[in-house]
Amino acid sequence: MRSFITINIIIMCLIQLSLETSIWTTFDDIIVFGDSYSDNGNVYALTNKSYPQSPPNYKGRFSNGKVWIEYLAMKYQANLIDKAFGYATSDNGLVPGHFQWDNTNYSVPGIKQQIDFFINSHPNQNYDKTLFVMGYFGNDYRYTNNGIDPSVVISSLIYSASQLVNNLEPRIILFPTIPLLPNSTQNSTFTNHNKVLKNSLDSFSAEHPDVEVFLYPFDEVLLKFRKSADLKEKLNITNIFNNCTSYADASNVCETPENYMLWDEVHLTTKLYEYIANDVYDRLICL
Ligand SMILES: *[C@@H]1O[C@H](CO)[C@@H](O)[C@H](O)[C@H]1NC(C)=O
Ligand SMILES: *[C@@H]1O[C@H](CO)[C@@H](O)[C@H](O)[C@H]1NC(C)=O
Ligand SMILES: *[C@@H]1O[C@H](CO)[C@@H](O)[C@H](O)[C@H]1NC(C)=O
Ligand SMILES: *[C@@H]1O[C@H](CO)[C@@H](O)[C@H](O)[C@H]1NC(C)=O
Ligand SMILES: *[C@@H]1O[C@H](CO)[C@@H](O)[C@H](O)[C@H]1NC(C)=O
Ligand SMILES: *[C@@H]1O[C@H](CO)[C@@H](O)[C@H](O)[C@H]1NC(C)=O
Repeated sequence: MRSFITINIIIMCLIQLSLETSIWTTFDDIIVFGDSYSDNGNVYALTNKSYPQSPPNYKGRFSNGKVWIEYLAMKYQANLIDKAFGYATSDNGLVPGHFQWDNTNYSVPGIKQQIDFFINSHPNQNYDKTLFVMGYFGNDYRYTNNGIDPSVVISSLIYSASQLVNNLEPRIILFPTIPLLPNSTQNSTFTNHNKVLKNSLDSFSAEHPDVEVFLYPFDEVLLKFRKSADLKEKLNITNIFNNCTSYADASNVCETPENYMLWDEVHLTTKLYEYIANDVYDRLICL
């Protein structure tokens, strides 16, 4: 079984013109810090299972099914340690992450706070078989209406990643770029963010040769999907412009979510999350 899987991986990577398979073919654990794209029920628990309304959301996800990181963990048969909260920013000291629900103002830990807490509560463990994920998808820009400079946000994310490196000695950290969605008023901000992220990770990576720093081009992959009639047909996605529901108020839901790319204004449907997870996996095993 094991060698059968290995042979399959070698063939897959050859198809992708990569000469060898990577060492990232198995993980025991995946640890994600982040926001609603990766939250598997943390905001839901915080609100005593009242928000995001489920159904139509799937068991507290901001989607109609599992989110990308859950599919990735399933692919790897890895244990998922999910520290992500919907509405989280890079750091509450920079932009406080919070939301209003049912007359209550809930505040959520930012990525920096999630990481600080994790480091303080998990000393001296071995993380050789762990994939760390910095699942940041742009909330600082949403709260400030694009009023914060990407270099500030990225410095904050890199600082948190350095804390991880200095305290936990991770072998690999994955950073996704932010996808550009139809009708978004944040295209140029996100494009800029993705560029600065790439440049900053080049230096971060050079400073930490023992850590594999993997920039996942979420934006390019989603754009390619949107432009490809074949890929859309394969997933039976016919609507890439409209949101099926709204994250603020999920009382209206479209008739056929299985044909939508967008679940709500900012989140993807579970089909797309599964597609992304498969793509992340295919790239990781051939790095
Ligand atoms: C949580 O929700 C349940 C069911 O709606 C309710 O019985 C319980 O009192 C709530 N708990 C808190 C702490 O609000
Ligand atoms: C909610 O709390 C956050 C801090 O967590 C604060 O910045 C925000 O102004 C508060 N909003 C309201 C409406 O009280
Ligand atoms: C944002 O960029 C995406 C991808 O290039 C494009 O499909 C969309 O129309 C753009 N939105 C705006 C408002 O420019
Ligand atoms: C694609 O979606 C349509 C509309 O929901 C449905 O009728 C059809 O059976 C789906 N096709 C496949 C191959 O799943
Ligand atoms: C994008 O704009 C179209 C046309 O104005 C609208 O029907 C659709 O709901 C919008 N989609 C999103 C995600 O806001
Ligand atoms: C789609 O998003 C818009 C906000 O951009 C919202 O007003 C609308 O209600 C949403 N559509 C549905 C079906 O919920």
